[in-house]
Amino acid sequence: MQKRKTEPEKEFQEEREKRIKRFPEKKTSKTFDDVFDQETLNTIRRIATAGLIDKLEYVVSTGKEAYVFRAMDKAGNFRAVKIFKTITSKFHNMNQYLEGDKRFKNVPKEKKEIVKEWTKKEFKNLEKLSKANTNVPFPVGFKENVLVMEFINENGEACKTLKEKGVKDLQDAYEQITEFIARAFYISGLIHADLSEYNILVKEEKGKEKLFVIDVGQAVLKSHPKAEEFLKRDLKNIALYFSKKGLEKTEEEVRKDVRKLKEKMA
Ligand SMILES: Nc1ncnc2c1ncn2[C@@H]1O[C@H](COP(=O)(O)OP(=O)(O)OP(=O)(O)O)[C@@H](O)[C@H]1O
Ligand SMILES: [Mg+2]
Repeated sequence: MQKRKTEPEKEFQEEREKRIKRFPEKKTSKTFDDVFDQETLNTIRRIATAGLIDKLEYVVSTGKEAYVFRAMDKAGNFRAVKIFKTITSKFHNMNQYLEGDKRFKNVPKEKKEIVKEWTKKEFKNLEKLSKANTNVPFPVGFKENVLVMEFINENGEACKTLKEKGVKDLQDAYEQITEFIARAFYISGLIHADLSEYNILVKEEKGKEKLFVIDVGQAVLKSHPKAEEFLKRDLKNIALYFSKKGLEKTEEEVRKDVRKLKEKMA
């Protein structure tokens, strides 16, 4: 037997129906549902109020852990806005990069808090790498799970990855990447820890191919207990990529080429 609705219940139901009529549920896109929870919307508002961006324009990339948007600031500069997912993200993997990094002593337990630490870590790493004159997007600012940085682009379009675009001058690209590894290691004291053709953007500038390294959230200090393991993996990925393209290199050779640059860094 159906339970009769009590008066307050009935009133509530009617009120709800009226509201639904006034504000029909929007058919929101998957992007919207995935990244824009209420807290993230507030964070973006705070970022805009602080003047880091003026307009969030469109989605450039929908990754597993973060979405990247093109934005514009009041002065008309393009910005990349990386929004880390706090609801649907699977951050089981993050701890090994946060723990052991002496800059992040008390790694939180709650997922949302871990994501915020991660965002801060990517920002701090970008700062360190920019100071060491490496080609990374210039960091503009961050709040909570949202990072704002320089938008690496050609005529407003995000630059393609090394994986997608490739390069004409392999030797020059190789030298740029070994210089990145050396500057990061000897000047910033950092190891990228996810370096591959997927995290390198290729920009054509004055007839030259300029390589930018992105996605530095997992980069660790060289004092990290797994530093050697991560460095070895980076060197191996680079050796494999260039060998596949015809510039034969072993992991050890890449290591040697990086070492040779040490003096230049002093
Ligand atoms: N600063 C930037 N300027 C221009 N494009 C960018 C920038 N940062 C990221 N992108 C774009 O977003 C993509 C993903 O960026 P990133 O690798 O930092 O995020 P991710 O979460 O690791 O994503 P994925 O899981 O796809 O690797 C890049 O391949 C590039 O297309
Ligand atoms: Mg990436």
